[in-house]
Amino acid sequence: MTSATLPATGLPTAPPPLRRLGAKDLAHIPGETGWPVVGNTLRAVRDPLAFTNAMHAKYGPVYRNHLLGIHGVTLLGPQANEFVLFDQQRLFSSTMGWAPVLERLFPRGLMLLDFDEHRMHRKALSVAFKSGAMKSYLEQLNRGIEERVRRWIKGGPQFLFYPAIKQLTLDLAATSFIGDEAHLHSEEVNRAFVAMVAAAVTPVRKPIPGTQMYRGVQGRKRIIELFSREIPRRREAGGEDIFSQLCRASYDDGSLLSAQDIIDHMSFLMMAAHDTLTSSMTSLIWFLAKDQKWQQRLRNEAAGLYTGTQSERTRALSYEQLGDLPLTDMAFKEAMRIIPPVPSIPRRSVRAFDFGGYHFPAGTQVSISPLFTHRMPDIWPEPLVFDPIRFSEEASRGRHKFAWVPFGGGAHMCLGLHFAYMQAKCFVYHLLTRAKISVPEGYTPDWQVWPIPKPRDGLPVHLAPI
Ligand code: HEM
Repeated sequence: MTSATLPATGLPTAPPPLRRLGAKDLAHIPGETGWPVVGNTLRAVRDPLAFTNAMHAKYGPVYRNHLLGIHGVTLLGPQANEFVLFDQQRLFSSTMGWAPVLERLFPRGLMLLDFDEHRMHRKALSVAFKSGAMKSYLEQLNRGIEERVRRWIKGGPQFLFYPAIKQLTLDLAATSFIGDEAHLHSEEVNRAFVAMVAAAVTPVRKPIPGTQMYRGVQGRKRIIELFSREIPRRREAGGEDIFSQLCRASYDDGSLLSAQDIIDHMSFLMMAAHDTLTSSMTSLIWFLAKDQKWQQRLRNEAAGLYTGTQSERTRALSYEQLGDLPLTDMAFKEAMRIIPPVPSIPRRSVRAFDFGGYHFPAGTQVSISPLFTHRMPDIWPEPLVFDPIRFSEEASRGRHKFAWVPFGGGAHMCLGLHFAYMQAKCFVYHLLTRAKISVPEGYTPDWQVWPIPKPRDGLPVHLAPI
């Protein structure tokens, strides 16, 4: 469907085809195009926040940019976030915004659909995130996390946190997303999937043999083969994992999702969950390892839920207890404020629009920046200080709703955000009631911010059993 307008509402049902803009189309907006061909890409990738700060200082909150071969604009601050994400006028296409990064490996994932079609798919997928389904994922998370934390503690006090949590997140996703089917838990599935995720952000965008993109494309082929074979059986069986839920999910008219839709949504969901969860849990643990006082507060909070009716060996966080961890909730929010897992969010305008006193043509590539907004000192005093109390009810009062947007907002707001809170809380619950985690005095990891933040040294930590 390519019609740009829907007569009944005057709003588009799907984005129209648009030409890519050149430097001239945006010449009236303050900003710079940078070097020939590469534009500002190298500066921006090396240190995205320093680059954004420098552009903001020079040109203000609306500026023109030239990144990864695309001429576009960046709109900064909570008002810009609201305008672009809330998008009441259906001005912005997520499909076209994300296409340069995700289209080859994750085509037709939920974030790559727009408007009416997006709404229809989002509704169908939401069955996999209802409370009954979430309870069953939490059971899996409890089991997987508890077992892994014990193993880490047994392995000795020094270990690299980032690769360890990345592996754990992948293994947990294998169970809650795919189920207990041993043949889909093979090294091969893991490898294929990891190759797809890595390829999504690789600089060489063509699948030339030997490149990461080539391995990603091969991985996608393999996943399609393996998952396709499974679908007929899962349509009949009653599995509680996300894959099985999608096999039985239907659209409003009662028709089941097609096999291709199921595969595209599954691959996208696994990608959307994997690096974001890994990144957010790594930054949370880094802040807690540095701030022993907050670590102890969270430990006390978690220990307070343990009633003693469960044996030490089997204690688990129940779904009903998720709301009883307000300090953990605030600490997780604060970690994602300082280090948002998705530092910037792209869109493309399907029609011309005005914002901040400027006029933008149809087809403008637009970027907003959770990273910049989350560190604006007039909203977040001393923005680099880890202070979860910023998220108390009192401190949050009067703050702009789009000043904190790690999960986006509006129609495309993260569908897995409750899953993310659940996994983070379950992890903190099991880790902090069993171990004390620390880093040497004065240590600060060097963070690679783009495309998804991670500590370059893997975050070496010290784990002491308690
Ligand atoms: C801390 C962890 C996570 C963060 C920070 C995060 C962040 C985001 C953001 C910023 C978006 C919106 C992007 C946009 O508007 O263009 C998004 C969308 C999405 N996320 Fe997450 N995410 C996380 C975890 C998860 C998990 C665990 C899942 C699945 C279980 C998931 C599934 C999705 C899906 C399906 C979308 C697309 C929604 C739509 O287009 O309607 N995410 N996420």
